[in-house]
Amino acid sequence: TGMFTYDPGFTATGSCASTITYIDGDKGQLLYRGYKIEDLAEHSTFIEVCYLMIYGVLPSAKELNAFEELVVSEMMVHEKIVDFYKGFQSDAHPMAIMVGVIGALSAFMHEEFDVNDPRDREHIAIKLVAKFPTLAAFAFRTASGLPLVRPKKKYNYIQNFLYMMLANPMDDDFDINPVVVEAIDTIFLLHADHEQNASSSTVRIAGSSLSNPFACVAAGIASLWGPMHGGANEAVLYMLEQIGSPDNIEKCINMAKDKTSGFRLMGFGHRVYKNFDPRSRVMQKMCYKVLEVTGKDTMPLLDIAIKLEQKALQDPYFIDRKLYPNVDFYTGLVYKALDIPVNMFTVMFAIARSIGWITQWSEMMAEGLNKIGRPRQLYVGPPVREFVKIEDRQ
Ligand code: CMC
Repeated sequence: TGMFTYDPGFTATGSCASTITYIDGDKGQLLYRGYKIEDLAEHSTFIEVCYLMIYGVLPSAKELNAFEELVVSEMMVHEKIVDFYKGFQSDAHPMAIMVGVIGALSAFMHEEFDVNDPRDREHIAIKLVAKFPTLAAFAFRTASGLPLVRPKKKYNYIQNFLYMMLANPMDDDFDINPVVVEAIDTIFLLHADHEQNASSSTVRIAGSSLSNPFACVAAGIASLWGPMHGGANEAVLYMLEQIGSPDNIEKCINMAKDKTSGFRLMGFGHRVYKNFDPRSRVMQKMCYKVLEVTGKDTMPLLDIAIKLEQKALQDPYFIDRKLYPNVDFYTGLVYKALDIPVNMFTVMFAIARSIGWITQWSEMMAEGLNKIGRPRQLYVGPPVREFVKIEDRQ
């Protein structure tokens, strides 16, 4: 049967070659197409990063404007897709809705695309990134029993998302706080891609059978949902709320160290970063900035988060295992301060990661290798056994 390496969790397996994202886990370095995440977070925007991902280069101001206009013009979705939302229970988690409706996009966009044509792949990427916030906002409004709100040309990409999610249809105007827009833009930028994480690998494996790209992205959303991956931002917030007071931090840390508890410190640890996560530094800074301007009432949670981080970083358990706060340790706090509903945290991670998923899918298709993703296994079941007919069994 040939030789293969046994590598559960793929800790030492390179599954593809890629030109999109570079991570040096020891140095705490993250690059998108060669540009440092810190520089992009300071000077760029999520939409500019989408351009960079799709085209491989930074746009001129004119190109960027035209690109954002194009993306915004694609934010509307087929009205038929609205019917899907009617089938969900009112308490459905918005991530559950997203798995369904993004997968359903494959029913609306299938035959007209040639996945081997680079121009078509560019359009697929633009349509996915454009429609994602609309479908996400609809998911939230369905779960809250609110009427749906359609995108508007006068708003940019991030503003449109906030407008569709939070606007009260009875008000004439929607007041969009620029600090909120900037913070969300930066969070999206930080989450845009992260090389071969579980959800991106899922999208690649699904796509390797030459399947519909929107259906493949639905598989990625399913993978992202769990608390060990994108679900961590939501889990961090619940954890901090449960801790409730700095007095309970020690108890929480002890529980995380106890393997029989089944509990892990949410927002801590990373498969690749073993020194620090550069995204979490940007997030921590932003957390202070946002709380200064808006969410003073979230301050006690930030206080618990900072003390928890300090305590954990001094504990030999976390030092020995090189466990540091990851990007999502502070994301939930910022979202909370911005009054973003908690069950939307992971959905917002998915919006941001949509560009990474689809760019990686496109890169794989461009290679034209047509190599299906097909890991092997170590069989540990019974050896060949004699079959006993049902009437002869005891
Ligand atoms: N709390 C307590 N112990 C931990 C934690 C934690 N958060 N993370 C890892 N460990 C321990 C783990 O029990 C193991 O101990 P031992 O060697 O004694 O068995 C050791 O550290 C190595 O952990 P691992 O599970 O082998 O590491 P991994 O690379 O497979 O997992 C991880 C990485 C992120 C899934 C994990 O650290 C974790 O579950 N963290 C909490 C969830 C979280 O914050 N996830 C978000 C990740 S960043 C955003 C994203 O990419 O989605």
